[in-house]
Amino acid sequence: MADTGNKKQKLVHTSGAPIYMETSSAPTNIATIKYWGKADAKWNTPINDSVSVTLNQDDLKAVTTVAASTAFENDRLWLNGEEEEGAADNKRFRACVDGVRALATEKKDDDGKVLVTKEDWSKMKIHVSSYNTFPTAAGLASSAAGYAALVAALALLFGAKEEFPGQLTSIARQGSGSACRSLSGGFVAWRKGGKKEDWSDSLAEQVADENHWPEIRAVIMVVSDAKKDTSSTAGMSTSVETSLLLKHRADTVVSQRMEAIEKAFLAKDFETFGQLTMADSNQFHATCLDTYPPIFYMNDVSKSIIRIIHVYNKWAGKIQAAYTFDAGPNAVIFTLEEHAVEVGALMLHYYPEFGDKYVNNPDFEKKIKDFKLDK
Ligand code: DP6
Repeated sequence: MADTGNKKQKLVHTSGAPIYMETSSAPTNIATIKYWGKADAKWNTPINDSVSVTLNQDDLKAVTTVAASTAFENDRLWLNGEEEEGAADNKRFRACVDGVRALATEKKDDDGKVLVTKEDWSKMKIHVSSYNTFPTAAGLASSAAGYAALVAALALLFGAKEEFPGQLTSIARQGSGSACRSLSGGFVAWRKGGKKEDWSDSLAEQVADENHWPEIRAVIMVVSDAKKDTSSTAGMSTSVETSLLLKHRADTVVSQRMEAIEKAFLAKDFETFGQLTMADSNQFHATCLDTYPPIFYMNDVSKSIIRIIHVYNKWAGKIQAAYTFDAGPNAVIFTLEEHAVEVGALMLHYYPEFGDKYVNNPDFEKKIKDFKLDK
């Protein structure tokens, strides 16, 4: 869920003009029913519904500071400390800044005196600085956290007032589709919508909040932190053009899975949740293979993780761990708190090179002593 570190401070530009500034952060989210394929590229709407688990604030997140002033000459953007030249003209960035600014309200001081009118906001240029606490563009949905944090920070800066519930998520969606699901915690669905004139009904809706199933855990294996070579946007466009499997998935598979997984999450039924999560990840990667020319996001390590998880579940006699892979080789393994140490141990046993950077528990080797994997 987007979090706001609302520290009030008065900033003044060397010209004497005030600078208004706000900071917000948003975690990434991991889709368990995947978004893949656009219905309308201009509005960035999907061909099917999707749903994801939002990670905790303390984990993988983007932290974004936005500042506005009449003294600024241009809109500017810094990502992880490096300025992105020309980024302010980027269509996605513009959709977020202009979309949230259209909902601006006047800013008053503590005594009720108007400091900034709605019109004043429209005259100011914006400076944005954003940091990720995880690899950018390596299939860990960095754009989701980034655009969600941007929209949350802008909403705070402009005092944005939604005209209908979920409007801010529909703006974040124009930054990056998956970003609309990072503005709330817990289990969040993106309803594809159908109002073709403005797609205002293509927005995210919280299915269950972050307190509903606190035992759920995600073990994240950064198989590679290299930037992916086929971006999600380019990949899904080729898939829509060429994959018959994607059409079948969007027309008939996803709606049934959405209903079933939402029910499973609400009932805290890990077996059904895990089975659907793995099946949907596999089908998403199958559509990538069915794309012409094919797209390969998983590598051999990813595939061996899949194999280990299936053997582990067989050994356990039930689904205790469920993998999912986005547009990259990194694995996210969902499990419950009671099995998290065991799953972490298992992964470290087969992949000691992951070391204790992401998981550090002295009980690991002890816990897995009776687990035998017939490799
Ligand atoms: C595989 O949201 O990154 O992670 O809307 O083009 O920015 P754009 O795509 P993006 O795609 C995410 C795809 C996915 C599945 C998902 O998160 O649902």
